[in-house]
Amino acid sequence: MAAAVAAAVLLAMVAVPPGRVRGTPALGVSCVIVNLEHTDCSWRHVPSPQSNYTFQSRLGDRGSYSDCPRYLLQGGYTVGCRLPYTLLDRFKTLHLRLTHDSALAWEQTVQLLNQVKLNPPHNLSVEVNRQNQELWLYWNHSVKSNCRENQVMYRRNEESQWQFSTLLPADFYSLPQASLKSQYEFKVKTRVSNTCGMSEFWSDWGPPVWWYPAEQSNQTGPELGVDFQHKGYVQFLLCPVYTAPLTSDNRLKRVSC
Ligand SMILES: *[C@@H]1O[C@H](CO)[C@@H](O)[C@H](O)[C@H]1NC(C)=O
Ligand SMILES: *[C@@H]1O[C@H](CO)[C@@H](O)[C@H](O)[C@H]1NC(C)=O
Ligand SMILES: *[C@@H]1O[C@H](CO)[C@@H](O)[C@H](O)[C@H]1NC(C)=O
Ligand SMILES: *[C@@H]1O[C@H](CO)[C@@H](O)[C@H](O)[C@H]1NC(C)=O
Repeated sequence: MAAAVAAAVLLAMVAVPPGRVRGTPALGVSCVIVNLEHTDCSWRHVPSPQSNYTFQSRLGDRGSYSDCPRYLLQGGYTVGCRLPYTLLDRFKTLHLRLTHDSALAWEQTVQLLNQVKLNPPHNLSVEVNRQNQELWLYWNHSVKSNCRENQVMYRRNEESQWQFSTLLPADFYSLPQASLKSQYEFKVKTRVSNTCGMSEFWSDWGPPVWWYPAEQSNQTGPELGVDFQHKGYVQFLLCPVYTAPLTSDNRLKRVSC
């Protein structure tokens, strides 16, 4: 019996996050740097006894612990703490502890380096180069960084399988040999790249963009995929993005841009 309990405790200890850990294994704390803007550390609220955990942390090996500047709440209880993020913080070790009724309940160190989750890319746009039968995609990011990689997923017509691009250092993608009589749907995601301490996390997929063959879109006014072979070079379009599939219902309201 005692051996079974010991084994169960051991198993629970194995499942806790990496770093030096002391405390109730059921609690657990995980930290994610959100879009290189702030760090959210969250823990499981253990509903009994009915009082809050207090979070304190220290970045780096020296200095004293600071109180949480902003708690994240759920159902009236503290379940997380939002810490400010400044450049290079992710190369430091975060020391954190939780106290409960003035008793230390959890203590842990977290290596922040690989814990970055960026926001998905936005302003995803598509253009067509008819001469080369290529579709070109472009997007923007909400934070500047030279250390990211992107991936595009796309499918030709709605029923076909999603395809995935290779990892792309630049903020564009060209799909060669596109079938310009088909409809394409694209999405893009991003993460911190290998050269800067690759993150465990990808962003979510950003909102999709569609490309429609000319026969479908020239009835509606502005064309989604615009030929740029006569412009000399790629230009951004005023109205390139459809945020929903073209149907007879939403067709008309989308020509107003
Ligand atoms: C927990 O903390 C929050 C925020 O400070 C507070 O509103 C709430 O009343 C606290 N709950 C308990 C049980 O102390
Ligand atoms: C890019 O997207 C943002 C919102 O995500 C919007 O405010 C901005 O106008 C867009 N810029 C361009 C050039 O489309
Ligand atoms: C958005 O992306 C386009 C195309 O790559 C680029 O020309 C533009 O400067 C970017 N906008 C911002 C705000 O980064
Ligand atoms: C749309 O374009 C195609 C080819 O460019 C043409 O055959 C078709 O008649 C056009 N449809 C309309 C409604 O203009």
